[in-house]
Amino acid sequence: PRAIFMSRHGESMYNVEGKIGGDAPLSPRGMQYAQALPKLIKDNLGDAELTVWTSTLQRTIQTAELLPFTKLTWKSLDELDAGVCDGMTYEEIEEAYPEDFANRDDDKFNYRYRGGESYRDVVVRLEPVIMELERQDNIFVIGHQAIIRCLYAYFHNLPQETLPYINIPLHTVIKLTPKAYGCDEERYKVPI
Ligand code: F6P
Repeated sequence: PRAIFMSRHGESMYNVEGKIGGDAPLSPRGMQYAQALPKLIKDNLGDAELTVWTSTLQRTIQTAELLPFTKLTWKSLDELDAGVCDGMTYEEIEEAYPEDFANRDDDKFNYRYRGGESYRDVVVRLEPVIMELERQDNIFVIGHQAIIRCLYAYFHNLPQETLPYINIPLHTVIKLTPKAYGCDEERYKVPI
């Protein structure tokens, strides 16, 4: 591919409340990001045709809504499934499942939420998405924190143990341009 664009969805109401998982709508700031995206893309890419891939969760679909491109939703792009912890804050998880909380801290890549997924599980389910990304040009993936971490680590060849800690800020489009070895990177931040 000539370039791959990726971003987390705009800030969601769950982000504001510190809750994980769920299917919350965008917050007012998240909506500002969605509103700013068409101009950000036009100013930086001109008239390049993108295809936008989202998850099936409304925060990614709302983030993509105003982009004048073809859109595709992928179940495989849904956020890491936190199982019984879905909808909780980290404080609530530590309180309800202290051992799990400590185990996740010990080995975040392999830790699997009860009734949910690990980062390792997510890497496996992203394989078909990555194969398709490798084949296509100018895809803009609007995903989630754990998902973008996995894609970013794949294209930069970053080791698995460090992957769950990669800082992927909100309201920032990351452009990766594959080279013979690794990728060049540019970032476009929306100041909101
Ligand atoms: O808080 C937003 C979020 O996308 C949650 O839905 C998800 O569980 C979490 O980030 C993943 O980040 P971490 O693996 O650091 O908990």
